[in-house]
Formats: sequence, structure tokens, C-alpha cells
Amino acid sequence: MNYLSIKDIDSLENWVKEARDLKQDPLKYKQLGSDKTIGLLFFNPSLRTRLSTQKAAQQLGMNCMVMNFDKEGWALEYGNGIIMDQGKSEHVKEAAQVISQFCDIIAIRAFAGLEDKELDKAEVVLSGFVKYASVPIVNMESSVGHPLQALADAITLEEDSVRIKNKKPKVVLSWAPHPKALPHAVANSFIEMMQRQDAEFVITHPEGYELDPEIVGESTVEYDQNKAFKGADYIYTKNWSSFREYGKVTSKDASWTISEEKMALTNKGRFMHCLPVRRNVVVNDEVLESGHSLVIQQADNRTYAAQIVLKKILETL
Ligand code: CP
Repeated sequence: MNYLSIKDIDSLENWVKEARDLKQDPLKYKQLGSDKTIGLLFFNPSLRTRLSTQKAAQQLGMNCMVMNFDKEGWALEYGNGIIMDQGKSEHVKEAAQVISQFCDIIAIRAFAGLEDKELDKAEVVLSGFVKYASVPIVNMESSVGHPLQALADAITLEEDSVRIKNKKPKVVLSWAPHPKALPHAVANSFIEMMQRQDAEFVITHPEGYELDPEIVGESTVEYDQNKAFKGADYIYTKNWSSFREYGKVTSKDASWTISEEKMALTNKGRFMHCLPVRRNVVVNDEVLESGHSLVIQQADNRTYAAQIVLKKILETL
């Protein structure tokens, strides 16, 4: 069993419930992972994913090896039949098989390059390891998705939504400005997760920031952010670069920054963001530090999202 996308969850409701049970008793399955090793391979930086996945593995009794592949590993080649006389020292075919001898599970973070849409959609790093490793693979954020984050967000929504009575929660995914070009992975997985929820779900962004239509599908898109925020119970904020003009920052419109005035349009809405977040660019200090911000709870739930994924995989080994 791999965990590559939200689609690998058979019942989101059950997984969220099991994760919440684990949160109450994190060491209940401490024996499950004894004598098992997870290797965490980072091709990009991380705070939450790295520490929460290690913590989850430790709580399941696993050993954990971490490698900052971008700095410490050989540069990998992924193509077939390549004459490797340039900068790449090792092929994923050997690397994946070798790491599989040391690890029972391999988890990988490899962001989109944001230069070649088709290359990013092909998920060359993740799919290379899936193809050539002989152990389960976990996606710790790839070009296209961040399913551990989305599962943590589902847990957070479930925990918080007890306050909402007699109606479906209204959840808004809002683009916000950012100085750098960022990938689409968090937004993509959040959309895929919300499409499985019993909620009113709206995506809002400036024109030109449409996400991959294959992922957005029938989800509602509203270009007027103020209109989208009206009556919202949750504002999930994320920047992403243009998908159409692939990887480009076509607008840094500061009027899309999440402010107290924007939040006042909502139904006492809670602010959500995966972190890290740029203060007073994506969201103002007052919103981030308010009692309506769920960002620290979201980060906490990364542990239980990772733990339920690892538990499910360990049960198959
Ligand atoms: N949200 C998230 O994935 O955080 P890190 O990039 O710090 O791991």
C-alpha cells in the first residue's frame, strides 16, 4: 500500500475518526512498528512534515532515518536510456532499490519545479521511487499533491466543526498574494479532500489563477473574494502560482491579503493555513494571532495524519 494522494484513502470519515482516536492515545500501537524503519527523503525544505512524520513513526515504535537528499544525496537521474555524462551521478533505479534494503517504508518530499508543467504532472521523483522501490511509498508533498496536509486539515475541520449546528459548514479556499512562485500541491489536495466532504465548498482567486481543471472539476469558483467570504465558516488560505501561465506570478494584488475586515464578512469564520506563512503578505498579524486562527492546531494534527497513514501501511507489512 502506498499513500500518494487523497485517493488512497478508502473512507475519509473512518481515517479521520481513527486519527482522532490516536490523538487521545498516541502510544497505543507502540509495538506495531518495532523493528521497522522509515526513511524520510527530503528533496526540499520542511519543518512540520519532517518533525511530525518522525514523531508519528516514533509513536508507532519505528526507527526513523532522515536524508536531506538535495544537499547530501547524489543528484539522481530519472530518464530512461540517458547517457549520464553530465551532472547526475546515480539513477533512481539503483537508488530506490538500495534504499528499499534499508527501509520498510520510504517517504518522499519533492516539490514541483514550476518550469515544465508536463514534467511536474508526471511526478518524476515520486513515480520513480514508486516504480523501482520494493517497499511502500508515502508522499510528503510532491509536485501535484500534499495529502498528509489535507488529511490533517480534514482532522482539524472535524474537530472544530462541532460548533456548527444544523447546517453544512461553508469552507472557502482563498488565494492570497505571495512574493515568490509557489506550487499548487496544497491547494490541489485540499480541493480533493473537500470534494469528499459534506460541505458547501467555494474556491476564490483572481482571474488567471485557475487551478488544474482536472482537479477543480465541478467545485464552485467565485472570482469575487468578498462575495465568497460571506457566511463562510472556514477560510483556508494558500498562495499558488499560475497554472495556465505555468509557474508565473501574474498578480500580487494586496487586496487579497486576509485581513480582519475580510474575516468580518464571514460567519465568525476560522482562519486556516498549512504554514509556513508570510505575515502581512498572505495574512495580517491580527487574523493569524486571533482566537479564530486554527493554524497551530492544523500543525499539531500533522502528527496524527502521518500516524494513521503509517499505521495503515504497517498493518499490511
Ligand atoms: N505544511 C507543511 O508541509 O509544512 P513544512 O513545509 O514545514 O513541512
